[in-house]
Amino acid sequence: MLRGKDIVLIISGGIAAYKSLDLIRRLKERGARVVPVMTNGAQEFITPLAVGALSAEKVFTNLFDREAEHDVGHIRLARDHDLILVAPATANLMAKMAHGITDDLATAVLLATDKPVLAAPAMNPKMWLHEATQRNLETLTERGISFVGPASGEMAERNESGVGRMSEPLEIVAAAEAVLREEAIKAGSLPLANKHVLITSGPTHEPIDPVRFIANRSSGKQGHALARAAFEAGARVTLVSGPVDLPDLANITTIHVESAAAMMAAVEDNLPADIAIMAAAVADWRVASEGAQKIKKDGSGKPPALELTENPDILATIGHQKNLRPRLLIGFAAETQDLLKNARSKLERKNADWIIANDVSPETGVMGGDANTVRLVSQEGVEDWPQMDKAEVARKIIARAGDALNQT
Ligand code: C5P
Repeated sequence: MLRGKDIVLIISGGIAAYKSLDLIRRLKERGARVVPVMTNGAQEFITPLAVGALSAEKVFTNLFDREAEHDVGHIRLARDHDLILVAPATANLMAKMAHGITDDLATAVLLATDKPVLAAPAMNPKMWLHEATQRNLETLTERGISFVGPASGEMAERNESGVGRMSEPLEIVAAAEAVLREEAIKAGSLPLANKHVLITSGPTHEPIDPVRFIANRSSGKQGHALARAAFEAGARVTLVSGPVDLPDLANITTIHVESAAAMMAAVEDNLPADIAIMAAAVADWRVASEGAQKIKKDGSGKPPALELTENPDILATIGHQKNLRPRLLIGFAAETQDLLKNARSKLERKNADWIIANDVSPETGVMGGDANTVRLVSQEGVEDWPQMDKAEVARKIIARAGDALNQT
């Protein structure tokens, strides 16, 4: 979402400005260009030298800069970029924005811009809760300005806590992505805008007794990458995830489940969908009757016999339900042998449109790794894709899904 985007970052004068240095790095590592504008107040807290070094851009500080203003630079700053991000936004800056006051470069850019504006307020809790600030917030929200935070917690001031801390850089990044995505949806440039995509990810845990379970080695990386790619393509995404070690994805509704039965119920609860991608490694079997108490050794030296019973097949169940079946239904086939034969038989048996087949033999490093080599198997035939990282595989699947949906 941020790749290739051009962001003007306005830094105003509050102690939270130190977090803006990290924010610049986070935006840049996601492929954005960051053009900084600093108020005089900001320069009391952090230096233009640090901001310039991290952004690798000229830092704009002065409305009457002869070099920048020979071609009315503040208007170019306001117009030639994709997003104006204000972090931190102090009470003073918010007040000036609300009242159209322009007494420096930052406020001139904010008044002249026709681009989306996202602000991350940071101030003392009393200043935040003051009626003046709350009214300014209302005015700015009505005008279409987006806000992230402030969060609550300890203040830099001694013995003060409450709402007023600037959101953490990664939350600001997620909010910036959401704003840019909304803009792209409005501009009609995202293939899955207004579509609902339902994705399963990760392993399932099937309980044996209150302390033990049957599991598999799925990390959830591929399923989560698909959820992110679908979100970036403009979709509303519901992610049903088994137990994974991955952080929740910003802006994506995630339903956490443990067992196959719970995953099945969550999937049914969240249909209909335009596209469903079943990337979870659902356990084929569960223990027929889960022990209510921890199973103990009985001293006989004989291990207990575990009777297994088959789990519901989520993909096959929705594949065969006429009224629930999404227009595009995609499954995975993780195999260690007879990859294509197994993938083709799954396509038929589960009534899926595509099966993404991958070899998960231990020597491939796919399970838990960052790379994947897949084949797309459909009624039309088999496509071999080169090895890619899981995020690229996800983007390619989602791009193809968008094409397929928009053709029919
Ligand atoms: O039969 P197998 O488990 O190999 O099929 C893999 C595909 O079926 C994957 O897309 C997986 O998410 C889905 N599946 C399912 N429910 C099951 C078993 C597999 O949705 N109980």
